Amino acid sequence: MHLPLYLTAAATIMASSILAHPGEHHDDALVKRKLNMQEVRATHGSRALAKCARSQAYQTNDHFRRTSDDLDKWAAVEHNKTGKITPFGNVFDTETTCILAPVITDGPYYVWGELIRQNVVEEKYCRGVPMYLEIQYIDVNTCQPLPDLYVDIWNANSTGVYSGISESGNYAAGGWNSTYLRGIQPTDNDGVAAFDTIVPGHYSGRATHTHLLVHTNATILANGTLQINSGSITHNGQLFYDEALRSAVEASDPYNTNTIEVTSNEEDQWAPEQATSSYDPFIRYVYLGDDISDGIFAWKEIGINSTADYTNDSDYAIAAYLGANGGYENTGAHAFSGGGGSS
Ligand SMILES: *[C@@H]1O[C@H](CO)[C@@H](O)[C@H](O)[C@H]1NC(C)=O
Ligand SMILES: *[C@@H]1O[C@H](CO)[C@@H](O)[C@H](O)[C@H]1NC(C)=O
Ligand SMILES: *[C@@H]1O[C@H](CO)[C@@H](O)[C@H](O)[C@H]1NC(C)=O
Ligand SMILES: *[C@@H]1O[C@H](CO)[C@@H](O)[C@H](O)[C@H]1NC(C)=O
Ligand SMILES: *[C@@H]1O[C@H](CO)[C@@H](O)[C@H](O)[C@H]1NC(C)=O
Ligand SMILES: *[C@@H]1O[C@H](CO)[C@@H](O)[C@H](O)[C@H]1NC(C)=O
Ligand SMILES: *[C@@H]1O[C@H](CO)[C@@H](O)[C@H](O)[C@H]1NC(C)=O
Repeated sequence: MHLPLYLTAAATIMASSILAHPGEHHDDALVKRKLNMQEVRATHGSRALAKCARSQAYQTNDHFRRTSDDLDKWAAVEHNKTGKITPFGNVFDTETTCILAPVITDGPYYVWGELIRQNVVEEKYCRGVPMYLEIQYIDVNTCQPLPDLYVDIWNANSTGVYSGISESGNYAAGGWNSTYLRGIQPTDNDGVAAFDTIVPGHYSGRATHTHLLVHTNATILANGTLQINSGSITHNGQLFYDEALRSAVEASDPYNTNTIEVTSNEEDQWAPEQATSSYDPFIRYVYLGDDISDGIFAWKEIGINSTADYTNDSDYAIAAYLGANGGYENTGAHAFSGGGGSS
């Protein structure tokens, strides 16, 4: 049988790095994830752009008429690419590119001022299925990748609780100061932002999802944080996980200790909003080992309108800020309305 290149390369590099650094601890899963990422990414940029030239099928406004038919269509697509990646193969063949993804709510738990870091998995409260995630942002106006965006990521931990927010409905261990599973990364020349995180767990009333918020022209301060309310909010979206993946993850430890009732993608308020007839809201993925607990590599291409600004949109709200004095609730504006003010 022909082994995918990333696996043989992983085996070779793992063996040689162990020889090169005797006694050093190696996280095999992490090495595999990184190699897998490089392999997929080598194919990624060029293929995405080649495809872009053929596909101009973007929508012209952000307020689509969305039906659950659109979600059903994407739910029927196979997103599990395990064993289907071949060197320079067809990983992105079924991926739509240059398709505008709807802007939907950032929910009640967005914290401005998070750490700029790729690995958002902290020592505490982050046990779960490792996920190496790559998001490629494409400008629907030009079909070109968008470098220098700052992308905020946040999601609940495997038992359904967000960090950074400590109020009814979500009491984070560590309170407003906690930062687990939150971070910011810039996009590279291929428009790609990459994160080491985990597959989220679920909480009451929501299907499993990961939040992504895009800042354009944001100012980075000397202390390495984003200047409050600088730049534009050019996209606000959520990634969803197909039901097969969700059930595999939920059956594993520690997700299976969560007794809160599961909400399916179909039942979710936002999954159908995130789907359109041309935009698939589900990530694509490969297993990094035989078992789901070894982790997944996941990827998604997201078309955005680089000249749009949702700062004043009702879908955008800042729930809290993280600063030198720790995290604090945004009391400057209604929690679900735009802007947030600077307090
Ligand atoms: C998830 O977060 C909550 C609160 O922050 C914490 O009590 C719980 O132990 C965490 N779950 C895991 C698996 O760490
Ligand atoms: C994904 O595909 C692999 C390989 O066929 C299989 O072992 C695994 O169970 C699948 N997982 C899901 C969630 O469909
Ligand atoms: C970002 O800044 C550039 C250069 O100043 C400007 O042309 C562009 O319109 C800005 N983008 C947004 C979304 O504000
Ligand atoms: C992008 O946003 C600008 C500014 O809001 C708008 O004029 C333009 O129509 C949008 N383009 C697309 C393709 O949605
Ligand atoms: C948002 O509202 C503020 C205050 O009214 C205004 O100064 C700013 O120009 C608005 N931004 C956008 C992108 O509409
Ligand atoms: C970074 O610097 C800004 C501006 O001085 C400040 O408001 C913010 O609290 C600082 N953040 C951190 C985490 O130190
Ligand atoms: C939050 O962090 C700040 C800054 O490090 C610290 O002064 C404050 O005591 C912390 N608050 C809590 C509740 O831990």
